[in-house]
Amino acid sequence: MSNGKRATETEKVSTWNREHLLSLESLTQGEILTILDTARRFREVSTRSVKKVPALRGRVVVNLFFETSTRTRSSFSLAAQRLSADILDITAEASSTTKGETLVDTAKTLEAMGVDIFIVRHKNSGAPQMLAEALDTCVVNAGDGTHEHPTQGLLDIYTLRERFGDLKGKRIALVGDIVHSRVARSNIWGLTKLGAKVAVIGPTTLVPSSLKALGVEVYHNLDEVIADFDVFNILRIQLERQGEPQFPSLREYALLYGINEERLARMRKDVVIMHPGPMNRGVEITPAVADGPHSVILEQVSNGLAVRMAVLFLLNNARLRRQREGGKSTRHKVPV
Ligand code: CP
Repeated sequence: MSNGKRATETEKVSTWNREHLLSLESLTQGEILTILDTARRFREVSTRSVKKVPALRGRVVVNLFFETSTRTRSSFSLAAQRLSADILDITAEASSTTKGETLVDTAKTLEAMGVDIFIVRHKNSGAPQMLAEALDTCVVNAGDGTHEHPTQGLLDIYTLRERFGDLKGKRIALVGDIVHSRVARSNIWGLTKLGAKVAVIGPTTLVPSSLKALGVEVYHNLDEVIADFDVFNILRIQLERQGEPQFPSLREYALLYGINEERLARMRKDVVIMHPGPMNRGVEITPAVADGPHSVILEQVSNGLAVRMAVLFLLNNARLRRQREGGKSTRHKVPV
């Protein structure tokens, strides 16, 4: 919290004024709770026989994905469809950026066709922010480099609040490649704003002590603290973002940090096991744990749809409100 007081869930806000979702670092506790409460209302839509509401009818949503994705891209597509928006999918290979066009020119070209919301995934941290500053269109960060993946953080937090209610004082461990993980950063910002106690665990090369500056505990010996947490969120080793190898071998990593049945047996008896996906089965998590009774991995995926519906709904409403009130574009004034 900005004034140094301990976070509690008391700051709910009723209005949402942002036209971009770029990070959880930039959101207040109240804004996070507004998204989560809105998502709970949208969760019900997925249980209907006709899984559709007209909230974004006539709006155009573009998935602009310059990195691979299974979950986030399909989840945003379905979320937009369930809100009755038109949805267009653009990937790096299918865009004119391969011919030398800049990202901003590609986005401005699409904006000229009447796009209302861009969902952006890019290997460069800050790419969605750059687009938000250049366009008069809503922008959602769907994962930028090692910076943030705000909707993944939100869906993880949504899943935990469904299990625990208030997260104040809950002890949550993120295990693995923290330094390269945008998911870890969004989880850390979001969870600490809601009063949870977050720890990061992994080898020193992937979990440097400097992470303490984010308000988390740092551990390198998983087995020493294995019984101390209510939740373990297991992260993938991101070989694609590592230059030099950061540990001797995947086998050694699995021996020291892999979550297997033997380690699960030493955790708290009602521990929750999470993974944002994609999983490397047999490296950071074994199939028995990933598919076992403590795992909420597929619940995370289902909840992601409702969270993304809520995000699209809130951003679009804020943009419509600004347009109705004749307000200036938020271009060049993106809150960070
Ligand atoms: N968790 C996540 O971002 O998965 P994808 O890369 O499949 O979107």
